Amino acid sequence: MTLRKGAKDMGPTRVGVIGGGIRGRIFAETTHHHSGAELVAVCEPNRDRATALGDALGIQTFDSVDELLSSGAELDAVVVATPDFAHEQPAVAALDAGLDLLIEKPLATSEEEAQRIIAAAVRGGGRIVVGFENRWNPLFSAVHHRLRSDNHRMVSQRALLQDTIFVPTEMLSWAAKSSPAWFLMPHVLDMATWLSGARPVDVFARGVNHVLRDRGVDTWDRVSASFAMSDGSILDLDCGWVQPTGKTSVFEFRFEVETDADAYVIDVDATGARHATAARTGTLGALEHDNRGRPQGVAADMMRDFIDLVSGADLDLPGAEQGLLITRALEAVHRSLETGSVEPITS
Ligand SMILES: NC(=O)c1ccc[n+]([C@@H]2O[C@H](COP(=O)([O-])OP(=O)(O)OC[C@H]3O[C@@H](n4cnc5c(N)ncnc54)[C@H](O)[C@@H]3O)[C@@H](O)[C@H]2O)c1
Repeated sequence: MTLRKGAKDMGPTRVGVIGGGIRGRIFAETTHHHSGAELVAVCEPNRDRATALGDALGIQTFDSVDELLSSGAELDAVVVATPDFAHEQPAVAALDAGLDLLIEKPLATSEEEAQRIIAAAVRGGGRIVVGFENRWNPLFSAVHHRLRSDNHRMVSQRALLQDTIFVPTEMLSWAAKSSPAWFLMPHVLDMATWLSGARPVDVFARGVNHVLRDRGVDTWDRVSASFAMSDGSILDLDCGWVQPTGKTSVFEFRFEVETDADAYVIDVDATGARHATAARTGTLGALEHDNRGRPQGVAADMMRDFIDLVSGADLDLPGAEQGLLITRALEAVHRSLETGSVEPITS
């Protein structure tokens, strides 16, 4: 599906944000501070969260996307930043209204849902951008650039992306309806397909699931998935949710690439400043806001590019096809966890 569409009328790009949690707040703040955009409203069913965001940014809030769409508010685009399992309904409603859409990864947690979202884009004429935010990480784009220009043959890729147990037990109220594979693996699988230009053709996955279950969160603790890629290379992804909270960073992210001529290692979490006090050593991540109070980081950069795309810029952003590929592959990972077999990934 092409991301091109005629340039919109003059005037600010009018954006609604659906889901006012951790991610929705970044997208709302970024829109609020963008000189070419207008943040029209945030939809958030949690009243306290909605009020806090509405008051901070001086905007209207609604309980749901349906209320926003029937309010008569003029919109060009929406961002869907609802929990992993709750992407389809707001996405289909917004696309059926003809709006452009930035949707958080994963596009959906089943191929059927992803296909219904894509069908709504075809019906309404809106474009879909999927929030694979690592495309905006300069470390990955440097490797991507070198791989494209060197043209060496890929041998293997390997990634570790894991969170401390804080994420599924305290940060996310909906972890039991997701998994480390749905929440973390889209990031690394998108990177692997982007860096290699290849797609996954089959997968064998193993998992462990007793730590979180014992804590009342019924999902996988750790998922390790081995993919065969269409270029003959191999890809191993390891994602987990039960690392101890005493670690220096809430997440750990390492990505390795090996070609027939060279090798790359990206230690994403090691890019923070190491910070020691008398009590502990930690990593001071980059500030989420710059000195002028504007959001900074990969998610804010992605949001600014989405606004520019809606305003008429010609940008190559990850779209529905890529979102569908990742959803299909991760469905196959979950199938393999259940069957104990190698599962094909349809293209
Ligand atoms: N938190 C992260 O580090 C991170 C990073 C990248 C991508 N994501 C993705 O972003 C999405 C949102 O994650 P989050 O961390 O912001 O979660 P969150 O729980 O902080 O926020 C989700 C919000 O959506 C609201 N909500 C639920 N159903 C809704 C609906 N139908 N309409 C409107 N709002 C609804 C919830 O009340 C909640 O406030 C997920 O798909 C996640 O995988 C999260």
